[in-house]
Amino acid sequence: MAMKRRLHLLFLGAWALLFAGAVLAAEIAQPPVVDDSALPALGNDWRENNPYRGLPAAYDIGRSAYNQSCARCHGADAATNAAPAPDLRNLNRACRRIVSAELKARCQADKDAYFAKTVRQGKIIVGVTHMPPWDGVLKQELAWAIQVFIEAQARGGRE
Ligand code: HEC
Repeated sequence: MAMKRRLHLLFLGAWALLFAGAVLAAEIAQPPVVDDSALPALGNDWRENNPYRGLPAAYDIGRSAYNQSCARCHGADAATNAAPAPDLRNLNRACRRIVSAELKARCQADKDAYFAKTVRQGKIIVGVTHMPPWDGVLKQELAWAIQVFIEAQARGGRE
């Protein structure tokens, strides 16, 4: 009886390890494979603001990168709120409502800084990785293109 019980515990332990492995694997940042040659190169120093707004190529490149690297947590095509992570279409909602062009630009600049910082550092809250850091995994070109794609989705898709 005691032996059987110990075996049982062993099985439980093995399952727990397997499960922990699966969760950890899910938190690793997977780089997307995308041809971004249509985007002006930005180098290693991160810009403060998104330089790709209004650039049509950014939408498709951003979409591909997003679906490879972000969709598994944030939802396919950034077009669903059924995912475990927040709906990223809401990120710029407050700015969209602002009428004054100057205030809108300032709001947008704050959102750009928040987007870049969050993506680079990830979301690690009291030691628990909610989102892995993307610094060194995702080029800034792709991060900004992803933001352009998300913003277009928030407005109902490609212009
Ligand atoms: C392993 C799952 C996972 C992946 C993959 C992932 N995220 Fe996240 N992300 C999260 C979670 C969970 C949160 C919310 C964390 C929190 O605040 O507790 C989050 C939050 C964010 C936020 C802040 C949202 C807000 O409302 O404040 C941004 C921006 C973001 N993610 C962008 C991205 C981008 C861009 C990618 C792809 C390059 C990505 N994420 C990939 C899980 C993920």
